Amino acid sequence: MYFGVDYHPEHWVHPYAGSTEHPEARWERDAQLMVAAGVNVVRMGEFVWGLYEPEEGRYDFGWMWRCMDIMKLAGIKVVLGTPTAAPPLWLSRKHPQVLPLDEQGLALHEGTRHAYCMNSDVYWEYSRKIVTELAGALGKHPQLIAWQIDNGIGGHKTEFSFNEESRHDWHAWLRAKYETVANANDLLGLRFWGQVVTDWDEIPMPMVAPTVHNPALVLDWMRFSSDTCIAYVKMQADLLRELTPSVPVTTNLRCLSRHYDHFDMAEVLDFVSLDTYATLQRRPSENAVEFDIMRSLRKIEIKAPGGEEGFWVIEQKAGNVNWQEVNSLLRPGVVRLFTYQLLSRGATGVLYFFWRSPRIGPEKFYGGVLTHDGRGDNRVYREISQLGEEIKLLAPVLRGTKVVAETCILYSHPNAWKLRQPQQHTRHFRLWEHVMLFYNALHDRNIPVDFARPTEDLSKYKIVFAPSLHLLAGGEADLLKLYVQNGGTLIATFNTGLVDEHDMAPDNGFPHDLIDLFGLEVQEFDPIPPGEENHLVFKAAFPANHLHGARLWCDVIEPKECQVLATFSKDFYAGRPAMTINNFGLGRAIYLGFMGQPAFYQDLVAWLRQMCNLFPLLKVPDNVEVSMRQKEDTRLYFLLNHQGTPVRITFYKPMHDYLTGNTFTGNYDLPPHGVLVLDEHMAKGAPPT
Ligand code: GAL
Repeated sequence: MYFGVDYHPEHWVHPYAGSTEHPEARWERDAQLMVAAGVNVVRMGEFVWGLYEPEEGRYDFGWMWRCMDIMKLAGIKVVLGTPTAAPPLWLSRKHPQVLPLDEQGLALHEGTRHAYCMNSDVYWEYSRKIVTELAGALGKHPQLIAWQIDNGIGGHKTEFSFNEESRHDWHAWLRAKYETVANANDLLGLRFWGQVVTDWDEIPMPMVAPTVHNPALVLDWMRFSSDTCIAYVKMQADLLRELTPSVPVTTNLRCLSRHYDHFDMAEVLDFVSLDTYATLQRRPSENAVEFDIMRSLRKIEIKAPGGEEGFWVIEQKAGNVNWQEVNSLLRPGVVRLFTYQLLSRGATGVLYFFWRSPRIGPEKFYGGVLTHDGRGDNRVYREISQLGEEIKLLAPVLRGTKVVAETCILYSHPNAWKLRQPQQHTRHFRLWEHVMLFYNALHDRNIPVDFARPTEDLSKYKIVFAPSLHLLAGGEADLLKLYVQNGGTLIATFNTGLVDEHDMAPDNGFPHDLIDLFGLEVQEFDPIPPGEENHLVFKAAFPANHLHGARLWCDVIEPKECQVLATFSKDFYAGRPAMTINNFGLGRAIYLGFMGQPAFYQDLVAWLRQMCNLFPLLKVPDNVEVSMRQKEDTRLYFLLNHQGTPVRITFYKPMHDYLTGNTFTGNYDLPPHGVLVLDEHMAKGAPPT
């Protein structure tokens, strides 16, 4: 288990620390304090190109080597960033064409990080050069255990760039995809508003225009920009694998907030890393969902340092941030609670951002593990040190354990990009809100869930949820059918199969390619204004604890082979199906032709649990989050109290508490923000009830 910090030794040299005679003197003290806090890994060097290469071709890696030597003496491993997230000033002054242009055609200037366009051949060439020099100079250091490529790829809206090099690459990308101009005209639907082209060069980039661009073209632009980000990371990954074959590569993602396909990105990495803002005031499930997505991006052939298979959290906020309206402190115990939430969902490395609040630069009042004074007697340092002790205790038992989920939610980036475009059926629909209705209902019952894109093998899941796959490629529809055919239970919803991968609506009925699977046809869509509702009338045994309403969207459905579970109660489609089930092969396909209130999804999950023999991990009071990691005969339960008051839990069997070594039964009061790590194997009993 790796437990560490993001360290910026370049901030802690003379004149900010050390002395004229010993400019780097502070580094040893930092390493001592890290060791005392249980730190065994640091990430360094993600923004130091200008220090490695202060003038073109004049390199200085010696200072980083010395710092890595200090880490060696302290027994601390090192992840090194490739420094391409922050190009040096000399580069953009010499080659201004590396700077990105925004959608209005305005240059994003140099003088900060991310001032580069990932389509720039010049930037690729310089990136290759610095990465090669870096790997040559530091790649053999014994402390090095992984590379982090760049930092926050696509950050500050740099996924898209509208300069001439991008235009050139965009046309090449389109040419590779469509082969002929006629094909591009047809499949992009350029006849609409007469925007047909006679040459590739005429195809526009979707820059600011009087009104919307062709939506199929915009969708391709998103795909092209995503491919650009991934190609840039892959170029570095391939180079590093060639130069230092035994060192795995990662890059730090922010969950779904950048406009590239995260599943594609995970494919070019050896392991996935996350920057999390889990410390902010959010519902516990809003953090949990990020971790579940990160764990799901790469499910096989993971090569994380130390032979572990999970994902890393390479930046967990140790303190306040500096970009909220009010950057409040994190309350005592909160960093610890969120660290356990990360571990409970499969993290095998956690590093805090950052080691010490810097004296310089825009992030100087960001909360670090150490405060500006660097003394190591501050609250956060003490909290992290306590965690460091606990992690040492837990590491042996955590090793090799994994989260195993029997349910899955489908998410596809092209679909999400499509649903973010203007001119939808209703502006009030948010895909993410819809996804979270399902996720929250599973999370609140402590049912583990993975995420997957529709093209994955879904056969290991008992239940698959597919909220609003508006854009559904033909191949994806076939795979969904295969899943159900072989015995799976699929739950799909309104706003599914409205267009294919070319953003073209079908001429043979909705949901596109899935009419036989659901045994119904959707004839019309009726978006409902906010505040208005239709109602559901259940026709079959569905354990409805509430009167359920339908909001935002109602499908007008013509049933074919399906069984109708509920109908709408009002409007011209009163009595027509709202919820249906269809036996298909060995499985069943359930269709929800509306969006419900959260309580509906709670009842839905309760019903599905019975139908599919799905058990929650432990019976605990509603406000306790439970997650489990397991291997062979070991099952490790994490119980988290996210509230500021104690929660009483009753255990009917003896449980072994890993953090205290005690075994107990009966009532246990989990303190505010408290955590329990229970080992069922050690309890040698049947599962607790
Ligand atoms: C991260 C980034 C860090 C820091 C942080 C601030 O995404 O990698 O360098 O800037 O955001 O929130």
